[in-house]
Amino acid sequence: MCIEAKKILSLRIDFNKSINMANIKKVAVLTSGGDAPGMNAAIRAVVRKALHEGLEVMGVMRGYEGLIADDFIPMESKSVGNIIQRGGTILKTARSERFRTREGQQIAYDNLKKHEVDALVVIGGDGTFRGAREFTENFPFPVVGLPGTIDNDLYGTDMTIGYDTALNTVVEAVDKIRDTAASHERMFFVEVMGRDAGFIALRSGIACGAEDVLIPETVTYLDEVHDKLVKYMTEKKTSSIILVAEGDDAGGAYDIRNAMAKYGEEFDMRVIVLGHIQRGGSPSAYDRYLASRLGVAAIDALLDDQRSVMCGMVHNEIVLVPFNKTIKHHKTIDQKMLDIVDVLNS
Ligand code: F6P
Repeated sequence: MCIEAKKILSLRIDFNKSINMANIKKVAVLTSGGDAPGMNAAIRAVVRKALHEGLEVMGVMRGYEGLIADDFIPMESKSVGNIIQRGGTILKTARSERFRTREGQQIAYDNLKKHEVDALVVIGGDGTFRGAREFTENFPFPVVGLPGTIDNDLYGTDMTIGYDTALNTVVEAVDKIRDTAASHERMFFVEVMGRDAGFIALRSGIACGAEDVLIPETVTYLDEVHDKLVKYMTEKKTSSIILVAEGDDAGGAYDIRNAMAKYGEEFDMRVIVLGHIQRGGSPSAYDRYLASRLGVAAIDALLDDQRSVMCGMVHNEIVLVPFNKTIKHHKTIDQKMLDIVDVLNS
């Protein structure tokens, strides 16, 4: 390569370097709460960007529990080689009761200081950010969060890491269920995850052409569900798929099926709870892209002396959202999306 080209290339690489306003020398990264496809892509981006900026990096095993148990491992570029395509998290994850206590947080803080860690990146969901918010209120320590959960229930980002892959998993499963439902002229009640949110149910319900979608954000009137399904099955359909968010106010898929059975029609009904397959699998292209951008943004934010914020992406732009906002504000469901389900079955 000619000297001129090398000079331009070196300028480009140097140009990408951020100014280290916070004088950070070493960062740690952990994953917490339910795992999500794309967490490894996020870990990879945090590690590679931090190393690119000349920082040292440590991984913390098993989330906040690892902070307390002093389970730190040094990370280098090859530590995150060949993981972008892998589901789960190489740092493992766990929920930590001890981190909910001031004593546990003190041990975590002391361990971070012992390892001379200057800042922390936490990748997880709602519970992870609650813990991070409390920790940063009790201890003067820079923490930035990345939204890693299939639930997509965090305010301040269009999508959370893992949501897109979970949607694809649900749609692929429901397409298979639809084959047998059509063959046997059956009604299937399919339960999906989301904890107390209905984002997975609603968007995958539209994507797989579900006849109905039941979500916690709206009251489920069983009579209305029954009348709708009877109308479909007697007038125009020989099979039906109903997506039920696990947190629905009327209960899970078995509860809904049992409630429908009480009306007395002789529908041939079955139930399937998709469960933890929604948490696995190789992350989609979008989740890898989102995780990579957010991982880079987390290091940029820390170098810019930002703390107690979640890095999100809104309309393809990086945004920084204070933990207080992303936790307290429940992301709202667009009612119009529910109307689409009915319109496209009319
Ligand atoms: O928060 C992610 C999530 O998958 C929820 O959708 C689900 O309700 C929960 O985790 C299941 O938790 P666990 O993996 O501990 O059973």
